[in-house]
Amino acid sequence: MRVPELVVALDFQAPAEALDMARCLQSVTGPGQPKLWMKVGLELFVAGGPDIVRSLKHMGFRVFLDLKFLDIPNTVRGAVRSAVKSGADMLNIHAIGGLEMARTAVAARDGAADELGLSEKPLLLAVTVLTSMQDTDTPILRGREAGDVALDLAKLARQAGLDGVVCSGREVASIKAECGAEFVCLTPGIRLPDPLSEADDQRRVMTPEAAVAAGSDFLVVGRPITRALEGKGGPVALAREMLGRMASASAAGKV
Ligand code: C5P
Repeated sequence: MRVPELVVALDFQAPAEALDMARCLQSVTGPGQPKLWMKVGLELFVAGGPDIVRSLKHMGFRVFLDLKFLDIPNTVRGAVRSAVKSGADMLNIHAIGGLEMARTAVAARDGAADELGLSEKPLLLAVTVLTSMQDTDTPILRGREAGDVALDLAKLARQAGLDGVVCSGREVASIKAECGAEFVCLTPGIRLPDPLSEADDQRRVMTPEAAVAAGSDFLVVGRPITRALEGKGGPVALAREMLGRMASASAAGKV
């Protein structure tokens, strides 16, 4: 079982702003502690390109390139190869692209990692059901619970040889039960208990303790850290608080 790790979502449009935030968070983990992860999503990548990934790696972070590829297998193959070559430590595709697309992505990840002589392959995850999807406007959900569809898509990802999925904290237990404890679950929508933090536009939030107790391997946190007010200690204090809570919950789960 992995020790849960923290991924900070750098949802900024200006690359300079994202890199300033990352620089400010460099002191959060020290020698002997797991590296902090930075998530580069579409907004930042479209503005800053692969240089952003290289800069963050140079600062000592691990990088999750959250570009959610969905296209014909040949196009996804090329995108995955480019993502691996950027230096990303984790990348993702949409599971709704199907088994062939997912298998092609795994082969592309493996091939690119071999070519580069990487000792550790980047993790390849599949997005199951976006938390923004509703059954009224999303045909794949019509008439079915989002959790059931997410479980089916997680099984497809497992069958294709992916390392895990992006899912809601509420789905971790059933996905792990079906796909195995080692199958990685990465969960966004993490908030500190009120009144410490706002839910923003997240509909189904979980505390870091609940996500760790549910078995999540990676917790994605954006605004609670990146928009933390200086009066409350700013991003560094919030990131430390998240890590402290994750460590306590993880230790409590092992006794
Ligand atoms: O600021 P906040 O903590 O809500 O940021 C969460 C991050 O996780 C954002 O980058 C968002 O795009 C991403 N995400 C999400 N829900 C999903 C998948 C990704 O919130 N289902």
